[in-house]
Amino acid sequence: MPRRLAAITGVHGYLPDYVLTNAELEKMVETNDEWIQSRTGIKERRILKGEMKASDMGVEMVKGLLAKTNTSAEEIELIICATITGDCIFPDTANTIADKAGAVNAFGFDINAACSGFLYALSTASKFIETGTYTKVIVIGMDHMSSIIDYTDRATCIIFGDGGGAVLLEPDESGNGVQDAILKADGSGRKFLHMKAGGSAKPPSAKTVAAGEHYVYQEGKHVFKAAVRGMISTVKELMQKNELVNDDIRWLVPHQANIRIIKSVGDGLDFPEERVMINIEKYGNTTAGTLPLCLWDYESKLKKGDNLLLTAFGGGFTWGTIYLKWAY
Ligand code: UT7
Repeated sequence: MPRRLAAITGVHGYLPDYVLTNAELEKMVETNDEWIQSRTGIKERRILKGEMKASDMGVEMVKGLLAKTNTSAEEIELIICATITGDCIFPDTANTIADKAGAVNAFGFDINAACSGFLYALSTASKFIETGTYTKVIVIGMDHMSSIIDYTDRATCIIFGDGGGAVLLEPDESGNGVQDAILKADGSGRKFLHMKAGGSAKPPSAKTVAAGEHYVYQEGKHVFKAAVRGMISTVKELMQKNELVNDDIRWLVPHQANIRIIKSVGDGLDFPEERVMINIEKYGNTTAGTLPLCLWDYESKLKKGDNLLLTAFGGGFTWGTIYLKWAY
């Protein structure tokens, strides 16, 4: 009997219109275009302004995806949204998106795994398809990072941006789809990348706001090294487990946190740069949004049967790699 796999049958992204350039950041903090480009590879990032919320970005992704895949909103059974910047602490943003997009038959939930969120969500969603439970599932990876960034902190404000993408997952019995995943976490890494207040351990107060404890706190150098190690090791482990050699992989799809991290991962795996998806220069680090944004940007270059390795590392610490065969 053919194996029932979960295949991506469409991808659609959303990026806010406002472009925050390095030149504009130069006017906000003590930095410069040369430093930002050489240390991170980022030229500009998108910022969500005005009335739109994170859920509205998700709605744009879902609506575009439905139109593109000729699917009606009523057919969607489940929406999983990977984000750390949902509209509010509760309820989750997946169900707000379902409501606003007219997906009246879908239930949903959010996954909080920071930059690895899309991997965690895609892997979870694929189980609902593989087991025969559902046939149409949407996975969203997106973040509204500008809502939790301190624009007086030059170490973080230059990196992050807003946006993300959504994919439709459907059953495939021809061998294409999600093949395997290795997902990891190490909670002891939380001290290097987190938000100090706002949760139940330290609820918001005038004091926490004044202390700037609702912004992203990151010890960049430590995260950098752990990210390179984590992505390389899970890619290698997954390749070995699936008896893959370098030439079997058409595309490496790495989390877009820093061009130096991407290059170190590519070099560590001996992957030629032309087979590594890179778009960090345009969008910066959109946290859970980077992987679907890469797939969306490179969609026209992808061919049915192409082997892809999606890899990410982020707050938690969380990290991992997914091996999939492109289905269209
Ligand atoms: O998304 C998932 C998780 N996040 C990541 O994977 C991010 C990982 N980390 C990084 O990408 C890098 O660590 C950063 C981009 C955040 C920082 O780059 P770095 O090369 O590690 O710089 P650093 O923090 O070691 O700082 C080096 C110098 C410092 O000056 P001194 O102490 O040497 O005089 C900083 O104050 O660069 C200075 N600096 C800046 N200078 C100009 C830090 N930020 C800036 C800036 N402009 N924006």
